[in-house]
Amino acid sequence: MSDTSIRNGEFQLQAGTFCLAVWGCQMNVYDTGRIRDLLLSRGYAEVQDPAAASVVVLVTCAVRAKAENKVFNQIAAWKHEGKVTERTVVALGGCVGTELGQKIIDMDQGVSVVFSPMTIHRLPDLIELYRQTGRPVCDVDALSMDKFDELPLSGKRGASAFVTIMEGCSNKCTYCIVPYTRGQEQSRRVEDILKECREYLQNGAQEIHLLGQNVNSFRGLSADGTECSFPELLYEVASLDGVGRIRFTTSNPMDFSDELVQAVHDIPIIADAVHVPVQSGSDRILKLMHRRYTAKSYLELVEKLRTARRSVRISSDFIVGFPGESAEDFEATMDLVRAVKFDQSFSFIYSKRPGTPAAEYPDDVSAHEKKQRLYALQDLLEQCAREYSDGYLNTEQEVLVEGLSSRDRSELKARSSANRVTVFKGSPDLIGKMVKVRITKVLAHTLRGELI
Ligand code: SAH
Ligand code: SF4
Ligand code: F3S
Repeated sequence: MSDTSIRNGEFQLQAGTFCLAVWGCQMNVYDTGRIRDLLLSRGYAEVQDPAAASVVVLVTCAVRAKAENKVFNQIAAWKHEGKVTERTVVALGGCVGTELGQKIIDMDQGVSVVFSPMTIHRLPDLIELYRQTGRPVCDVDALSMDKFDELPLSGKRGASAFVTIMEGCSNKCTYCIVPYTRGQEQSRRVEDILKECREYLQNGAQEIHLLGQNVNSFRGLSADGTECSFPELLYEVASLDGVGRIRFTTSNPMDFSDELVQAVHDIPIIADAVHVPVQSGSDRILKLMHRRYTAKSYLELVEKLRTARRSVRISSDFIVGFPGESAEDFEATMDLVRAVKFDQSFSFIYSKRPGTPAAEYPDDVSAHEKKQRLYALQDLLEQCAREYSDGYLNTEQEVLVEGLSSRDRSELKARSSANRVTVFKGSPDLIGKMVKVRITKVLAHTLRGELI
């Protein structure tokens, strides 16, 4: 289907109930929030149980094969449990939508509507088209930025609001599918971003979390027609009324500029946790990955950031077992982890993605060896994060209260500047507020505290 064949609002809707499920990165979570706003604005009601939904919307990730498989396993499980029946409209989007497109319908797994991150604004009409014709529809696109202009904004988010500032990626790291699923990098207009931030802040958000696959290369048009860089955008967001904290994800080390380091120094409400994925500590592997920095230049960046702000905590992503990664290459990654002392990080075994250059690279490392490397890396990363956590004992932390603790509903769950989940006793009135707590206990993945 051509991407212009359906206009938003074209159909009179039967509406009904919808249930949302999301996998993948924060950009998918952001898209899901906008889909919720859209469906609610078109008369749908949200339910949590797929059994009660007339439409099940799945927003998926394609970055690793495992992520991709999860969604199909989920549909099969719901069908098996009778939660999804012949009458349920199953709509599947997110990055797998772009990646597989029409193939999803051809797989005959019960999916009736396929959409992509760029066509979420047409979802209600795609559902309606399917309902009226009985023919499955596929509307995927990886180019258009129309969704931002066409989607309604409810303004309602929790204590922390994701705001996508750019779509796509033009870096073409050799292992990565994102440039194919979300298209070339495009930045949103500065005024639109600020307007969206203001809406969330006026509706009670305290924290703005700016999103892009590589926020450092943001180049958005300002109202006066000039280009705005990412550090310039940060100063603008920091000056908005009511913003208590700013986070940003993700920063490619390649273009983490001195201006951005300066912004981290100048803007105290930028969180201490800064995510800068390094992927590998071996220059040979980094080159094969087409990541344009070296272990040495990464270490220099870390030094600059720590000079700009002593309390900064750097987290990262790692790929283990990239094709041809030798024991020495892996050791270079371990050395880099020891040298940097990363905070809470993510690590994955390399997953071959169809259509990416690395999928063709020879790979002589066994699956067993890759797993051993992953475990060793994860142990070391865990140790580093634990040392930072231990350092928070008896300190005072400013935390943003996100809601009730899921373990004990009489307690509150909050998040510190360094991205530590912190649990403490307090009144639900504090939800959405920034408060000070003293840390009384350090657990494996959480801190416990007392309200000061
Ligand atoms: N734009 C971000 C990363 C987005 S994808 C950046 O460049 O930093 C999130 C993470 O998934 C990546 O940092 C990488 O560690 C991991 N990843 C991406 N493709 C992968 C693949 N083919 N196999 C395993 N991990 C992968
Ligand atoms: Fe993928 Fe590289 Fe772009 Fe990140 S920078 S999304 S890893 S291509
Ligand atoms: Fe996954 Fe797409 Fe995000 S592939 S990591 S959901 S950009």
